[in-house]
Amino acid sequence: MPSDPAPDPDPDPVAAQPATDTRLDYRRAALSETDVDQDPITQFNRWLAEAATVLEEPNAMTLATVGTDGRPAARMVLLRAAALKGFDFYTNRQSRKAADLAAAPWAALVFHWPPLQRQVRVEGPVTPVPEEEADGYFALRPRESQLGAWVSPQSQVIPDRAWLETRLEEATRRFQGAPIPRPPHWGGYRLRPQAIEFWQGRPGRVHDRLRYRQAPESAGGWLMERLAP
Ligand SMILES: Cc1cc2nc3c(=O)[nH]c(=O)nc-3n(C[C@H](O)[C@H](O)[C@H](O)COP(=O)(O)O)c2cc1C
Repeated sequence: MPSDPAPDPDPDPVAAQPATDTRLDYRRAALSETDVDQDPITQFNRWLAEAATVLEEPNAMTLATVGTDGRPAARMVLLRAAALKGFDFYTNRQSRKAADLAAAPWAALVFHWPPLQRQVRVEGPVTPVPEEEADGYFALRPRESQLGAWVSPQSQVIPDRAWLETRLEEATRRFQGAPIPRPPHWGGYRLRPQAIEFWQGRPGRVHDRLRYRQAPESAGGWLMERLAP
């Protein structure tokens, strides 16, 4: 009989612990091919509306990009609209994500709606939102956010918080009593989905996954496939 392996002389006390003791079993709902809309954008907006009934920011999504060094980076952004044209978000066009998208104009989005035990993944090429649409959206933003867009050189190293506050005071004075135009470095990006996957948690980790993708054989439409969990 082989003897038991010798105990690890230097066990890592952190690695030995699970990250959390939570073992949530997913029992809220199921997802079947007959439940979902044939159009994934309609299906997405349906799930988003349901998420809006239980979450403050259901439009918060992880945006993953790839840098010029080939390495991924991910951060949260807010979805502005999901429509036929694509999934729109707004940001600083001199930010790290903008530099990534300039070099590799393709991204992945992830929505996670824990109270519904749902995840949606979206992938596709990204292009800038047309300038006039960006102007229209910027004009709708609260004045405070408009000022913020002017003062923050997003993703750059800055000396300290006070430096930012000083710039904010300067911008507040500069635009006093006047409408605030969209800064040239601020705008939108539009991800045109080529694949959208809907994930519904199920008991025993035997989840439901339905993926729509635009495939050569789907002739401009969407092909729906079930993926193993
Ligand atoms: C819930 C949430 C929503 C956010 N929404 C946006 C957004 O819509 N646009 C944006 O530029 N940054 C947003 N941020 C900040 C980004 O996560 C990130 O810090 C910033 O865009 C800089 O990213 P980058 O350096 O990778 O370009 C959000 C952060 C959180 C937590």
